[in-house]
Amino acid sequence: MKTDSILILDFGSQYNQLIARRIREKGVHSLIKPCQVSFEEIKGLNPKGIVLSGGPSSVYDKNSPVCDKAIFNLGVPVLAICYGMQLVTQFFGGTVESGIKSEYGKTFFEADSVSPLFKDIPSRMKVWMSHGDQVVKMPPGFIKTGSSDNTSIAAFMNLEKHLFGLQFHPEVTHTDHGTQMIENFLFEICRCTPNWSMDSFISETITHIQNTVGEKDRVICGLSGGVDSTVASVLIHRAIGDRLTCVLVDNGLLRKNEANKISGMIRSNFGITLLVANAEEKFLSGLTGITDPEIKRKTIGRIFIDVFEDQAKKAGHFRYLAQGTLYPDVIESVSAKGGPTATIKSHHNVGGLPEKMNLALIEPLRELFKDEVRKVGRILGIPEDIIGRQPFPGPGLAVRILGEVTKERCDILREADSIVVEEIKKAGLYKKIWQSFAILLPLKTVGVMGDSRTYENVVAIRAVESSDGMTADWVRLPYDLLGHVSNRIINEVDGVNRVVFDVSSKPPATIEWE
Ligand code: XMP
Repeated sequence: MKTDSILILDFGSQYNQLIARRIREKGVHSLIKPCQVSFEEIKGLNPKGIVLSGGPSSVYDKNSPVCDKAIFNLGVPVLAICYGMQLVTQFFGGTVESGIKSEYGKTFFEADSVSPLFKDIPSRMKVWMSHGDQVVKMPPGFIKTGSSDNTSIAAFMNLEKHLFGLQFHPEVTHTDHGTQMIENFLFEICRCTPNWSMDSFISETITHIQNTVGEKDRVICGLSGGVDSTVASVLIHRAIGDRLTCVLVDNGLLRKNEANKISGMIRSNFGITLLVANAEEKFLSGLTGITDPEIKRKTIGRIFIDVFEDQAKKAGHFRYLAQGTLYPDVIESVSAKGGPTATIKSHHNVGGLPEKMNLALIEPLRELFKDEVRKVGRILGIPEDIIGRQPFPGPGLAVRILGEVTKERCDILREADSIVVEEIKKAGLYKKIWQSFAILLPLKTVGVMGDSRTYENVVAIRAVESSDGMTADWVRLPYDLLGHVSNRIINEVDGVNRVVFDVSSKPPATIEWE
């Protein structure tokens, strides 16, 4: 089955991934490419429609981003949003003016019902705008299809060229009927068939893995117990059976009972060959005396590669390394500011392994967003307590133990953390929030227990809401819940006499403390 696909050309909008997701939610495959992608590549992708995204630039900026004008001759419908609409205006001889009247946030839009884009949509509705420039004169042959309170030409079209421009953002939830507009674009205008589903993804991916790996070669996969690596492993196992070997590196920095839980589930539910490397001592001795967060992360990454390589050598010859890379890590976004972004934290992944071990990569989830990975996992029969897990950082508890990481401090944090998670689950909040966990601080405070003075550790509780981990806000946990968690930690965890609650958002803080 050939899957219909919509191509999104990225002009630097923060909403690109939202556009892609809205389209996929309607059962149509979508992919994002930088706006400068070559015309040849676009033709090769054979999209049923193209979306030109918004972006922070002005068409009058020096080096403002553009795409190849030849796309307009493909005969493929184009939906041009915000900056995309201004670019179309300029391409076809209309006029864009800078900064006459900026419009940010909610405004009212009057739609003209003759546009197929506005089928089944009321003529007046609330929309979300975010623009400084605006179209003041349409290109010849275009007709206006709507205006807003502050923008006379807020939507236009050229039916002959299959071109539709919107100054507002249909992809954000603040725009009423935005999903209907996207649906209209997909089905009324591009005539897409909604044949992108997780079932079709699974069967196509299994065939693809079988064709890539062939009849004899073997695949090795690092299994962390997180959603992504578990789903990737189960999917590959469906494709090639026992030619897949998974390796779980128990670095001693995992949560309470984690290694046992994961290995039990992977072996008994799925019959996957799993090697568990008990490397706690190696990691902890490598971390002795290290307090700097970046050095900790790098040390853990380096030891991980050694341990993994060692396990792989013992298990025979492998040609492929599987990774649970997701789509947001693959998208090469157009940077709003241009130039490289600063490294805030060196994220731990198995980077460096493929080159060192001379392995080819298999990344069966590189097309998917996290919510799609969860759907795939459910279809594959992975238990809900794995699918619904909150993210856990690769370097594990080490980045939640401030100061030196020792076995004793890991044990304290493991106990405190399991109380936090248990109580958050009991309160019915676990799945509603992005992450909830404990952190062990590098300081001691005075307390009193019974009639005696104590001088013990401080544990912090962190609970955040987020949709992608890029930005986050702290969760307003009920005081009673906080009080109960605090009581339990202080009473049940030896070595802790104080609990504090982190009320910082990201930015300016980050989710993990290191
Ligand atoms: P920060 O702390 O940067 O975290 O706000 C954002 C999200 O990423 C997770 N995180 C990691 N995930 N390897 C991972 O796989 C890492 O090294 C790593 N560091 C942070 C963090 O838990 C949060 O969800």
